[in-house]
Amino acid sequence: MKIFYFTGTGNSLYVAKRFEGELYSIPKVLRSNELRYKDEKIGIIFPCYGLAAPKIVREFVEKVTLESPYIFAILTYGNMISNGVGWFANYAKKHGISINYANSLLMVDNYLPIFDVEEQKKKQKNIEENLSVLLKDISESKEYINKGSVLDAILTSGFQQVTKILPEYNSPKKFSINDDCSNCGTCVRVCPRDNISLDKEQVNSKPIHGDTCEFCLSCINLCPKKAIKLKSEKNPDSRFKNEHVTLKEIIESNS
Ligand SMILES: Cc1cc2nc3c(=O)[nH]c(=O)nc-3n(C[C@H](O)[C@H](O)[C@H](O)COP(=O)(O)O)c2cc1C
Repeated sequence: MKIFYFTGTGNSLYVAKRFEGELYSIPKVLRSNELRYKDEKIGIIFPCYGLAAPKIVREFVEKVTLESPYIFAILTYGNMISNGVGWFANYAKKHGISINYANSLLMVDNYLPIFDVEEQKKKQKNIEENLSVLLKDISESKEYINKGSVLDAILTSGFQQVTKILPEYNSPKKFSINDDCSNCGTCVRVCPRDNISLDKEQVNSKPIHGDTCEFCLSCINLCPKKAIKLKSEKNPDSRFKNEHVTLKEIIESNS
């Protein structure tokens, strides 16, 4: 079984690891010329962004060819997914990938503009119980797409339209970097888009974000000095990394 995954802060990588398949990082696949894969079972695991899928996952689906009698998708999310799962199944179908099973898993929400991770961690989200249901469904090759209601579909598609016209929606222009930055380069190495540069030769040089930001917030959440901030965030001291995943694993996934 091959599992393709994208992660910013480790939730989706943790879920991907639990399937005990061969892991393929989506950012790395996109950097390579290897875009055709075949297996008896193939999974795609990633975080829900904006009630749908991250740009990098959409790009993956547009470019890759997957040959398998059973393809499944799991979207990890933090609070509200609406029709994210159904939206993704349709998007994949439009690009020649027929999904047999698609579902979601509620986890800690890492969207720092709105949520305080410390409060999130205290919430009872039944991650292990819900994950074991997903593992069982997929081991039994269950056929199922967890579509939301009609209202959910309206919310997901409406949100896609609104965010297109919002100026600076999820833009790195909302980031600021303070003097605690030690020029360590962690942000550069966790960025899935190679979008951060840092002049290591120059003392006190600060990271510079380019214009292909995924807004995965891994640079902010994983900065050891908490030196990268959002201009507006719920709790500037709260940061998140899934406890079952190491920083090294996220670096290996994204750089
Ligand atoms: C840009 C962005 C958008 C997000 N949008 C949603 C959303 O629409 N609904 C939701 O429930 N969670 C949303 N989240 C939270 C993540 O989906 C959730 O925390 C996920 O498990 C993170 O996975 P990761 O640790 O693998 O990056 C968003 C997070 C980010 C960074």
